[in-house]
Amino acid sequence: MRATSTEPQQLSSIAADVLAGLSATPKTLPPKLFYDAAGSELFEQITRLPEYYLTRRETSILRGQAKAMVMAAGLPANVIELGAGTAIKTRMILEALQAQRGRVNFYPVDVSEAALDAAKENLRGLPEVAVHPLFADYASSMDFVGEIPGPRLILYLGSSIGNFEPLHASLLLSHLRSMLGARDTLLLGTDMAKDASVLLTAYDDAAGVTAAFNRNVLVRINRELGANFEPESFAHVARWNEMASRIEMHLESGRAQEVEIRGLQMRVRFQRGETIHTENSYKFTPTMVESILRNGRFVRECTWMDSRQWFALHLARTSS
Ligand code: AVJ
Repeated sequence: MRATSTEPQQLSSIAADVLAGLSATPKTLPPKLFYDAAGSELFEQITRLPEYYLTRRETSILRGQAKAMVMAAGLPANVIELGAGTAIKTRMILEALQAQRGRVNFYPVDVSEAALDAAKENLRGLPEVAVHPLFADYASSMDFVGEIPGPRLILYLGSSIGNFEPLHASLLLSHLRSMLGARDTLLLGTDMAKDASVLLTAYDDAAGVTAAFNRNVLVRINRELGANFEPESFAHVARWNEMASRIEMHLESGRAQEVEIRGLQMRVRFQRGETIHTENSYKFTPTMVESILRNGRFVRECTWMDSRQWFALHLARTSS
């Protein structure tokens, strides 16, 4: 599709992503498309599943160590959270900061307006915390970081960085780094590599919530781009890619079929068994963490883990 002066309408960002992803071989869709209102709600349900240990592990580390973390971060006045979602875990950091220093500004950043509304709601009752939601896609621009005064603490929790390939993760961090000064810090959450069966179960739960979360991207494309996907004709598939150290999610077409996407004036053909790759979720070794931070010009200062070392939170400082 060309942009010419006779073409007034620019593609919405979801249109451009869907066009690019479904024209590619193999077909892909970026995971940020999961997070419309329904998808954000499904993700909240995932965080409460017995199989999805990540959120509980991270929350328990935060519960025990929030005070040590904010002290190590130098009690900053401004906290920015990338991909904040509903900011439930963040409450522990903000409570510790409020207790140790008083007044704090909190800037949750997310691609879901519904999640930002929930974040504001979840943080009520913290008298010293002023919440300033930012509706933005941090993966395309971090300019908002530069507009918030320092000293800043950047929270990037939940292993959301695991959605990016290591090279891309480093680029994202170095982009963030370029907005920061010497007294700013980053608290990064990473899910660690572990037994494949534990990982596969976490991404293919018995109740089928992760399957519904995965298929929701098709429901969203139907609604926002006038497509006629039959979500139930696509199977949810979770795979462990050992070489890359990542869980992959795919949607696999159960039959040969053609889907029309009216908003893109496009028809997409699927063979039986053909997949759309919808997500990578990297599982980190300490070496991988060290390398993405170093390549992003951060130095790791301290790491906190749960007793089984399934999840880790790292405090990092800027380096030159
Ligand atoms: C929000 C990217 C951290 O990779 O575990 C949960 C998203 N996908 N179940 C993850 C997700 C399937 C989640 N992140």
